[in-house]
Amino acid sequence: MDKQAGNGGAGPNPAHTPEREAYYERLSTGNMAPLWESLAGLVTPEPVTQAEVAIWKYDEIRAQIMEAGELITAEEAERRVIVLENPGLRGESRITPSMYAGLQLILPGEIARSHRHAASALRFIVEGNGAYTAVDGEKTIMHEGDFVITPSWTWHDHGNESDEPMVWMDGLDVPLVNFLETSFLEHYPDPEQPLTRPIGDALARYGEGVVPLGYANKTKTSPIFNYPYERTREALEAMRKTEEWDACHGLKVQYVNPSNGDFAMPTMGTFMQLLPKGFKGSPYKSTDGTIFSPVEGTGRTYVGDQVLEWKKRDVFVIPSWLEHRHEADEDAVLFSFSDRPVQQKLGLWREQRGNDPVSEYHS
Ligand SMILES: [Fe+2]
Repeated sequence: MDKQAGNGGAGPNPAHTPEREAYYERLSTGNMAPLWESLAGLVTPEPVTQAEVAIWKYDEIRAQIMEAGELITAEEAERRVIVLENPGLRGESRITPSMYAGLQLILPGEIARSHRHAASALRFIVEGNGAYTAVDGEKTIMHEGDFVITPSWTWHDHGNESDEPMVWMDGLDVPLVNFLETSFLEHYPDPEQPLTRPIGDALARYGEGVVPLGYANKTKTSPIFNYPYERTREALEAMRKTEEWDACHGLKVQYVNPSNGDFAMPTMGTFMQLLPKGFKGSPYKSTDGTIFSPVEGTGRTYVGDQVLEWKKRDVFVIPSWLEHRHEADEDAVLFSFSDRPVQQKLGLWREQRGNDPVSEYHS
């Protein structure tokens, strides 16, 4: 493959002759194929994505989400979720090649029964306040903008004891887990798991800059499973007082596992960024296709010749290695997630800011 370096990595384009065609046919009957026929598409000079840029405007889809509440119960559906399918990956329940996203609706009085799976899940609360997620024996009450985790292989159920519908974005690594053929799922015998710790226990223990003496995390996921929006927002406001605005990202934080400083989840990186009123960002691209959900404000994101006009509660996706830039009309806050932890641990992640050289990630 070194030969390709000399022609910019364009790959071979050998002529087709009757003799070669006949040879390929004979190879094919033995489950073999000539690499030189597929090399150009197999090893590409830059990322090639099947995913497309897309936006789901909450104002336009909310009625359809609510309609699901009339057509099927949470009990019958197990999880009443409208999957956000990337237009380039229809029928595959994927928003990027490695990530799944959906909008889950739970109505007052409903319970989404307890189960656990190898796939990790995040919940990003889009509309409503007061429903709960129970994880591994502890309930957390969810509010708009909160980032909630259900780690791999932990029992989790959801319930809505408030008097309003709740909608949250589910983000899961299911496509990645299924690519690796490592999926497991189990149902809890009862609809709800027993609770063994009070509400707020995990945040109080692990979210104050301390951990119990001798603590060793038994999993690769943060022991905090609800990162309240209030606190994240406070962090951004504190930074605003002294930090310079980043030309591409405004002020951006990543959610961390306090026990090791790594991403909060092993397969999904999660972020929150503040763009000030009037922000006109510089172009940026990275290899991790990213799903954004604005929490506050309005603005737009330019990607190629497309303009995504977004506001609070929308969801949009920027696939791998597509240059984009954000603008904000008023102070705007964007949540986002991607498979960045996986790419970085495998030494594959790259980013490029404007016309700067491409930078690789070294841990
Ligand atoms: Fe689940």
